[in-house]
Amino acid sequence: MIYGIFAIGEDGVMGDFNGLPWGKKAKADLRFFMEFTHDKIVVMGKNTFESVGPLPGRRIIVLTKDKSYRHNSFDPSAKIVHSKEDVYKFAISQSEKDIVIAGGPGLIESFIDDIQIIKLTVIKDLASDNPFDGSHYLAKPFSAYGFDLHSLDRIEKDEVTFIHQTFYTLKRGVMNK
Ligand SMILES: NC(=O)c1ccc[n+]([C@@H]2O[C@H](COP(=O)([O-])OP(=O)(O)OC[C@H]3O[C@@H](n4cnc5c(N)ncnc54)[C@H](OP(=O)(O)O)[C@@H]3O)[C@@H](O)[C@H]2O)c1
Repeated sequence: MIYGIFAIGEDGVMGDFNGLPWGKKAKADLRFFMEFTHDKIVVMGKNTFESVGPLPGRRIIVLTKDKSYRHNSFDPSAKIVHSKEDVYKFAISQSEKDIVIAGGPGLIESFIDDIQIIKLTVIKDLASDNPFDGSHYLAKPFSAYGFDLHSLDRIEKDEVTFIHQTFYTLKRGVMNK
């Protein structure tokens, strides 16, 4: 199975330079990411890889077109590849069968047609009337790629940070059933 796992603000914001627009305040979402990706192959772009740091317990594949790119202290066990085809070649050689595309937004366009299920968290700051500041946005809503809402899975309201996290599952063709 090929999953996508993404978090967005209500206006589609996904990143703020090298970090998340909500920093580390969306704790339930971070927990969910760690649980969901455990024992799966996690695919990310170079910028995301450099911003998240090591994620033990899952096989990380990093995409860059830069053939001279070497991971240094980030995560020596990460596999660096240079194309989508390399990702699948490497994934087939691994015992973990599920692949999770983790972004960033620059990577989504390359893989979106292959993703079967999206685990999406929508993040809102209840303490502010303004959207999160951001530098990176989802290029198009997931509905533009054929995804529909399959389920609203749960809502987490953080009483300390006032960060509201709504967890959804999106699949293709739900509306046609
Ligand atoms: N909210 C979320 O769910 C989420 C998830 C992940 C990241 N983020 C945020 O997003 C921001 C980073 O986004 P981004 O779009 O700059 O980063 P990114 O997708 O992590 O990295 C982009 C880089 O990955 C490489 N790449 C992407 N697609 C490729 C392909 N098909 N083949 C080969 N290489 C490919 C390229 O590296 P080269 O230029 O070296 O070739 C490209 O410049 C950060 O703020 C991060 O925190 C948010």
